[in-house]
Amino acid sequence: MQDILKELGIKDVNSGACHGKWIDKPSGPELVSRSPIDGKPIATVIQASEKDYEVVMDQADKAFRTWRMLPAPRRGEIVRQLGEELRKHRDALGKLVTLEMGKILSEGMGEVQEMIDICDFAVGLSRQLYGLSMHSERPHHRMYEQWHPLGVVGIISAFNFPVAVWSWNAAIAAVCGDTMVWKPSSQTPLTAVAVQNICNRVMERNDLQGLFCLTIGRGREVGEKLVADRRVPLISATGSTAMGIRLAQVVAGRLGRTILELGGNNAIIVTEGANLDLVVRAVLFGAVGTTGQRCTTTRRLLLHRPIAEEVTRRLVQAYEQITIGNPLEPGILMGPMVNRAGVEDMMAAMKAIREQGGEVLYGGEELKQLPGDCYVQPTIVRARPEMQIVKNETFAPILYVIEADTVDQLVQIQNDVPQGLSSAMFTNDLLHCERFLSHEGSDCGIANINIGTSGAEIGGAFGGEKETGGGREAGSDSWKAYMRRQTVTMNWSSELPLAQGLKFGD
Ligand code: UN1
Repeated sequence: MQDILKELGIKDVNSGACHGKWIDKPSGPELVSRSPIDGKPIATVIQASEKDYEVVMDQADKAFRTWRMLPAPRRGEIVRQLGEELRKHRDALGKLVTLEMGKILSEGMGEVQEMIDICDFAVGLSRQLYGLSMHSERPHHRMYEQWHPLGVVGIISAFNFPVAVWSWNAAIAAVCGDTMVWKPSSQTPLTAVAVQNICNRVMERNDLQGLFCLTIGRGREVGEKLVADRRVPLISATGSTAMGIRLAQVVAGRLGRTILELGGNNAIIVTEGANLDLVVRAVLFGAVGTTGQRCTTTRRLLLHRPIAEEVTRRLVQAYEQITIGNPLEPGILMGPMVNRAGVEDMMAAMKAIREQGGEVLYGGEELKQLPGDCYVQPTIVRARPEMQIVKNETFAPILYVIEADTVDQLVQIQNDVPQGLSSAMFTNDLLHCERFLSHEGSDCGIANINIGTSGAEIGGAFGGEKETGGGREAGSDSWKAYMRRQTVTMNWSSELPLAQGLKFGD
């Protein structure tokens, strides 16, 4: 592991504030990052204080003034170089993600691949920031819209995708002409330091500063300052619904913009006649992958009554085979929860499940024999849709299995939760499929057929409705949120005709 830390420029004690150059001695408190794999410390970060935040933000704000004037394809070239640097350090960064956050190595690597993919996407996008042209109703007039850079973007990311979610925002914001200040989760400061070191090399090579900036700090200090900062026209935040609601109010108070990617409560619906082999594999990946800590994790399995017993039986059998342990080791399918608080949240949910009449079909316990104190069993619970706990997002590997008689009922149960991120139906029936995808079908931002709820590609817009927050990140036209639209009307006549045929004084 020492080689990896060295390759990524992680020292025993690291600065937590950077605008291209690291601030030598930030004045915030120390933060020790511990691996959830065994509870041992990895390295320390000295966090940014409000004062350090000011220095970093000032640089990001200044840099915007020059960065925005660089032609977009040249901005794309910088992001291309970022993608190349990430390719060089994919293995090391993937391992650090696993070490600091606890997801299995293949997922850690996949996360860095997602960063590389979004950089490639953004490079192409840098030549495609298209605006429409419209036909003016007035003679010798032309109308069109153009997209301008927006400003400094504040990126607040969560522990579960400690680097990929930053990159969805950063690669797109950069080609759009924005600079950015990143506040990562305090659970995963070292992956952020590693990514910043990679960014610094690209900035240095191109004589840039203030484009990719980092402030690792307490929510109460750095987080709140960022959210309230009028120099930041857009805050893109990933995290819990409770956090999103607080943050949205502050940003709305200054009429800023937000992209929110908050809680999910994602369901897979299985209809009679579906390919059950696929179902079992998709549910395993969706419910157990990342130890149930993705916002797209499959939390509910909604079964058509005729196949419910068989699916449940096969799933319990599959859960018995899941290998749990050190996520750096090959063959392990499930690593630890990110920290003790995550385990405690899960155990509190298990208590509520039992009180509300849920039946534990598999798991439900901590695994105390493993090192550290963050391992749990993946868990299957037979539940009823009206149980209150089923409507909450518990960020843990708990899967609720619910049965119903008709597909209409299953769709209605799936939508009857406050969240609206991801959804899936396994079916070979065209009519059920179309019903699910129709206006009265799934109410989520993501709707899949015969694939699970998690593991989205970067090419689509990612995000969801209701308490998920409504934001969209990554592919499709999500870039528009990072720019300001300007409608232009050009008059090339010597008259001044008014719109709507209005006459004024002539
Ligand atoms: C998240 O959990 O915040 O679709 C993001 C997925 C991943 C991203 C998840 N591509 O599961």
